[in-house]
Amino acid sequence: MGVEIHVEGLTKSFGDQVIWQDVSLTLPAGEVSVMLGPSGTGKSVFLKTLVGLLKPERGSIRIAGQDITRLREHDLYEVRKLFGVLFQDGALFGSMNLYDNIAFPLREHTRKPESEVRRIVLEKMDMVGLIGAEEKLPGEISGGMRKRAGLARALVLDPEIILFDEPDSGLDPVRVAYLNQLIVDLNAQIDATFLIVTHDIASARQVPDNIGLLFRRELVMFGPREQLLTSDEPVVRQFLNGRMQGPIGMAEEKDAAQVEQELAGLDGGDEDQPAMTPRLLPSAGVTRPPRWQAIADREAVLRKRQVADA
Ligand SMILES: Nc1ncnc2c1ncn2[C@@H]1O[C@H](COP(=O)(O)OP(=O)(O)OP(=O)(O)O)[C@@H](O)[C@H]1O
Ligand SMILES: [Mg+2]
Repeated sequence: MGVEIHVEGLTKSFGDQVIWQDVSLTLPAGEVSVMLGPSGTGKSVFLKTLVGLLKPERGSIRIAGQDITRLREHDLYEVRKLFGVLFQDGALFGSMNLYDNIAFPLREHTRKPESEVRRIVLEKMDMVGLIGAEEKLPGEISGGMRKRAGLARALVLDPEIILFDEPDSGLDPVRVAYLNQLIVDLNAQIDATFLIVTHDIASARQVPDNIGLLFRRELVMFGPREQLLTSDEPVVRQFLNGRMQGPIGMAEEKDAAQVEQELAGLDGGDEDQPAMTPRLLPSAGVTRPPRWQAIADREAVLRKRQVADA
């Protein structure tokens, strides 16, 4: 069931610009994790590094027993078949209609007959609500439709690992709700390991098992949803409540004195959202196999909180 991804001491720079350093985390097999962070903190770079499109300077990424940072291009090609990726810009081929775009990975990586390709493509297009748009070119449809076409394409190879870069940007709130339900149901059905980059706090609160936050070139925190949602760490609280007061500024970091003054002005954080939000459940009839690791992690967090409260 799914594949664990174990990242250790990962550092990525472009020239002398360090994007993030010493990032360590484990994406548990079969669980959904969300990565948050202000714009420009390197979330997309992180996803591209996980699929081996970008090479880190230091650290390792272990997937199914292999450190993919050390693989040659040929072996990397094999490992990439485990992944379904939705890039931030959708990355559809402009001259191909939606049907051919979505069929592309099947034709590239498998020898399935066209009848089977057709069955799979139509099934995924139905899943994301694109039936009837098979002949449309990417340039002729809305941004939200392009996003959903990218989602369908990411799913055709039955991936073990699913990476979605802002799947919800450009979607209206109702479609975001459907998308979140789709992600939860998919995870229950296909058991893949998910990592989703999003700026949508409401989704981040209710969809994943785990949440991470990138800020100031570091992974500030990564852990069970409950741990982040109940954290007292100022950056985490500011981000999860989407407020201006806190360490994160518009264009750059604020200085320490300013942050202190702002946080002192907040009266006990009363205006923050309630810490815990219920997790979105799979639809009726969709059952999720027990994620023992997630259950154990969650219980550990809750136990720690009880000790702290006592
Ligand atoms: N191929 C590249 N060459 C050089 N710099 C790059 C490259 N790709 C990304 N960067 C830089 O890395 C930094 C992080 O970019 P990234 O796109 O990962 O941010 P992000 O967290 O995804 O932001 P957003 O939330 O706006 O999508 C930016 O400063 C960007 O300019
Ligand atoms: Mg990005």
